[in-house]
Amino acid sequence: MSKRESLEEVSVDETVRQQEIIKQLSLIFKGKGLKYFIQTFGCQMNAHDSEKLEGMLKQIGYEKADKEKEADFIIYNTCCVRENAEQKVYGKLGYLKTLKEKNKNLIIAICGCMMQQESVLKTIKTKYNHVDIIFGTFNLYKMPELFQTYLETREMIIDIWKEHKDIVEDLPSIRKYKFKASVNIMYGCNNFCTYCIVPYVRGRERSREVDDILNEIKDLVNDGVKEVMLLGQNVNSYGKTLKDKTTFSELLRKVNEIEGLKRIRFMTSHPKDLSDELIKTIKECDKVCKSLHLPFQAGSTKILEKMNRKYSKEQYLELATKIQKEIPDITLTTDIIVGFPGETEQDFEDTLDIVRKIRFNGAFTFLYSKRTGTPAATMEEQVDEKIATKRFNKLQEVLIPIITEKNKAMLGKKVEILVEGRSKNHKEFLTGRTEGGHLVHFKGDSSLVGEFVNVEIIEPKTFYLIGKIC
Ligand code: 5AD
Ligand code: SF4
Repeated sequence: MSKRESLEEVSVDETVRQQEIIKQLSLIFKGKGLKYFIQTFGCQMNAHDSEKLEGMLKQIGYEKADKEKEADFIIYNTCCVRENAEQKVYGKLGYLKTLKEKNKNLIIAICGCMMQQESVLKTIKTKYNHVDIIFGTFNLYKMPELFQTYLETREMIIDIWKEHKDIVEDLPSIRKYKFKASVNIMYGCNNFCTYCIVPYVRGRERSREVDDILNEIKDLVNDGVKEVMLLGQNVNSYGKTLKDKTTFSELLRKVNEIEGLKRIRFMTSHPKDLSDELIKTIKECDKVCKSLHLPFQAGSTKILEKMNRKYSKEQYLELATKIQKEIPDITLTTDIIVGFPGETEQDFEDTLDIVRKIRFNGAFTFLYSKRTGTPAATMEEQVDEKIATKRFNKLQEVLIPIITEKNKAMLGKKVEILVEGRSKNHKEFLTGRTEGGHLVHFKGDSSLVGEFVNVEIIEPKTFYLIGKIC
């Protein structure tokens, strides 16, 4: 199979052009009963990108399939933050080869962060040439056009850009929930934490215009959305690339004024850029949830320096303590990496020390994963896997009792929950989240989905709470 590689420029009105292509494709595909399957790997940013892909496929005329086996068009939206996410994708692609042998008309597309790495592209071209369409993180909106080119040529289509061009607005999007939605406020990252591949695959930081964000949220609210999650790799530096330099705090205050909107969440915050003004804004804005995800990554100042995080252990402790003091009912969560190059037992003790002192409500914990192309990958003193795993387990031993205890303190409390749907494992239960982000299961009628309900916590568990309507 030969391969076509395209390097087109973004035209003035890309959205209009892609919409035109979607219209042409829909003449071919609408009403044919064809199905798509999209699997997303990685973060909320990717999940949100997948919603845009779904929106486009639906407009073309495809319906959602529950399994790969039932689909005529499969997209994997990939992640490369850790190695195991990549291995999963390769495993899946192997499986798709057998599906394609059975169904020659099956279209396979693969996109997202993994595709921005040359080594991955090479592997796919050589070992997985049953893939039909490959695109990256900067040109997701071009999917309809790439699909059309594939139909014309029946050759593998590859379109990967090294950097972003314009921010393309107004793509159709299918939301998972009618009542809550994610909104990108910025793209990319300039921080270059030494372990992280994101700045290389998502490009430099750029913020969306305030009015574009506000208009999108107003449209969402008109469409039934009550809760928004504002997304960015480092929301605290929002606005730095804008002419008027609007700050994240100012943006939050403007979003807070949108009538009909009930809850505002945001992620992710980098401790180095979290201002006193933001703390004040969270405190003062009634719609901004009192919940903050504030990754600290490692406890030791020496390791933080090697990670290029730009804060010390003491600075993080001071910041987190200040936030907890200013907003006593805040839910604080974090990300922690174990086994970064050069981490000694003493350094790891500093990580445990932060966990014990701050007493987080929740944490995502990761074993350090070497990412080719990042500075940390070539650092000396890579930590032995066995030692890292032992520390990882120790970290869980310290974290879990704290999280359990924090949840226990919720017993008897009356909380307001936005109901998300039926619990997957216990069908008689509904499930929803508190302002602080706690997951709560309680008995109730399906008509409550998408509504705010007051619930009393009757049984706290380690990772969720059980409540009853009150
Ligand atoms: N290894 C392990 N964890 C990583 N993260 C980012 N890069 C790596 C890596 N190479 C984690 C960080 C980040 C979260 C999204 O993923 O904790 O906050
Ligand atoms: Fe990666 Fe650091 Fe940017 Fe987060 S802030 S995306 S960890 S480089």
